[in-house]
Amino acid sequence: MAFDIVKYTRASDAVGWGDLDFDEFERNPLPQHTLRSLRYMCDVEYHTVCYLRDMLTTPSHKEPEIAAFMTMWNREEFWHGEALAAVLERHDIHVDYSALKAKRLKLGFKDRLDPIKQSFGSNLIGLDFAAVHMAWGAANEWSANAAYHRLAALEGSEHPVLAELLKRIAQQETKHVAFYATQARERLAKSKKARVIARFALRKFWGPVGSTIAEPDEVKHVMGHLFQGSEGRKLVRGIDTHIARLPGLDGLMIVENSLEARGITAEDLEPTPEPAAA
Ligand SMILES: [Fe+2]
Ligand SMILES: [Fe+2]
Repeated sequence: MAFDIVKYTRASDAVGWGDLDFDEFERNPLPQHTLRSLRYMCDVEYHTVCYLRDMLTTPSHKEPEIAAFMTMWNREEFWHGEALAAVLERHDIHVDYSALKAKRLKLGFKDRLDPIKQSFGSNLIGLDFAAVHMAWGAANEWSANAAYHRLAALEGSEHPVLAELLKRIAQQETKHVAFYATQARERLAKSKKARVIARFALRKFWGPVGSTIAEPDEVKHVMGHLFQGSEGRKLVRGIDTHIARLPGLDGLMIVENSLEARGITAEDLEPTPEPAAA
């Protein structure tokens, strides 16, 4: 099904949470391991602007539909960060967007796509770069969508307010998936070179969303929290199945492999007890 970019840009809006009772977090705070994961997710969402900045130097921004999408997408991801920051704030965890952004921009953040640009240099131009970029984005959005649904399911019975917020965020991630996957499908189908490069790039360079900006321990915590065990593994295989259905990407298991490499297995482990409150 075609993605209607005009409809999307007209309807794009901040994720709503003004009607949700965040006072509930003060009556019934979230557990530490969930706050740690939310902090990671908040950072990743806020980081989108740096990613966008890098993308604007690539051939993708010359594609009008991609440029239109990325403008709205960047705002929506920022608002996801803002919503998660508001939840964290109720737990005395302060995430300062401006400070975060200034630090990242100063450090000269480089995305994982950078080595791909370097590896292929001028061979990777125009439409082929956009195809790889779209496949990459689709893998990331499928992952984000699965992560939010998973956390909503894990916390749903104890913390329905959080679960509702996460479901609303995931609804927008579903639209992001639709854009990236539609673009990737069409562009990869048209170019053998793009298929070869996308396959190589995803297999060699892809890592869990956020793994270029967070400490390895944090990546391991979040991936373990959300994807360790048989239920998590089912979701991870679902993401890989979606990716592998894109033209030229059959048989890839990039998400499962990246988790295995970090010691996140399909084995159901006993949850580690929460540290006692100080
Ligand atoms: Fe998001
Ligand atoms: Fe997204």
